[in-house]
Amino acid sequence: MTIQPMFASDNASGVHPDIMNALIEANHGHALGYGADSYTPKAALAFKKLFGDQAETFLVYNGTGSNVIALKGLVRSYQAIFCSAESHLWIDEAGAPEQFLGTKLIPLPAYGGKIRVSDIIPRLGDIGFQHRSQPKVISIAQCTERGSVYSRDEIKAICDFAKQHGLYVHVDGARIHNALAALNTDCKSLLTDLGVDVVSFGGTKNGLMMAEAVVVLNPALHADYAVIRKHGMHLASKMRFLAAQYCAYFEDDLWLSNAANANAMARYLADSVADVSDAKVVGSVESNLVFLDLPNEWIPPLQQQAFFHIWKANTSEGRSECRFVMSFDVTRENVDAFVACMRKMAS
Ligand SMILES: Cc1ncc(COP(=O)(O)O)c(C=O)c1O
Repeated sequence: MTIQPMFASDNASGVHPDIMNALIEANHGHALGYGADSYTPKAALAFKKLFGDQAETFLVYNGTGSNVIALKGLVRSYQAIFCSAESHLWIDEAGAPEQFLGTKLIPLPAYGGKIRVSDIIPRLGDIGFQHRSQPKVISIAQCTERGSVYSRDEIKAICDFAKQHGLYVHVDGARIHNALAALNTDCKSLLTDLGVDVVSFGGTKNGLMMAEAVVVLNPALHADYAVIRKHGMHLASKMRFLAAQYCAYFEDDLWLSNAANANAMARYLADSVADVSDAKVVGSVESNLVFLDLPNEWIPPLQQQAFFHIWKANTSEGRSECRFVMSFDVTRENVDAFVACMRKMAS
């Protein structure tokens, strides 16, 4: 089937056919609700296989809910969460973290999307000082909102720093699949073994219909999450339809091949525009996101070919930075057609 692709986001793509089939398959007969079906334990086991036996998983509907629920188990309202000033948590969750956690978010400078612990050090003096919100969590996105990917060493440094100062580490993994495919590594060695406490594990951006997971890696924190999820309004009564998606997602590493394709298409787009005069790749391409600085007059016709968002308008005279997000089902032909359109305007 040919698709008219959009490069606006990886949630513009649809549901992978294997996931749709799994949903149809799960739609037979009756099953008890709230996770007492046959799919939910299978999905939980699949997560344990990926992250290790200590992983307890709580399926939820969306990424914002996943972040808020993941963080709810880590902080009290008098505590604070460090995150990047470009993070979804800080910018794009409509204040849900502040509302539901009652907690202060402390935005840190983003360097290519990543935070640095050196920017946290000046705030450590707040610990134990009664006038200040108490630092409690470092939240990073993997991949970041700029498409960059923290290396294992970088995550280790963040986790070591966190443990040294009594902080928890949360990973917003709405695109964790892209990071794992890019680093060619696995969840246990990249996250569990390094001491990450909780992961918001994506899926919707990689071929699921609507399912994300809160994966709790720190056993000392397990106990409260079942109630936290219900309290956070993300306990699905028809849980089998979330779980069945994850069961199919992990079968034959569908999730990793989807992510690898999206990453490869981002690389292909960046390589294909390398010789297009006036199209400039911004930053490095490490996952499924590409940022291009383009002449403003190119943007509307290119958006007709494959819709994308302007990320920063008017970065310089007559130019804007645009974001291109590749999905699991984007093909080289889709990219070729897009770049051909660009070449026409460049000539
Ligand atoms: C980094 C990151 N985290 C979380 C989310 C949350 O997604 P949702 O729209 O499902 O709430 C997104 C979605 O764009 C995201 O890009």
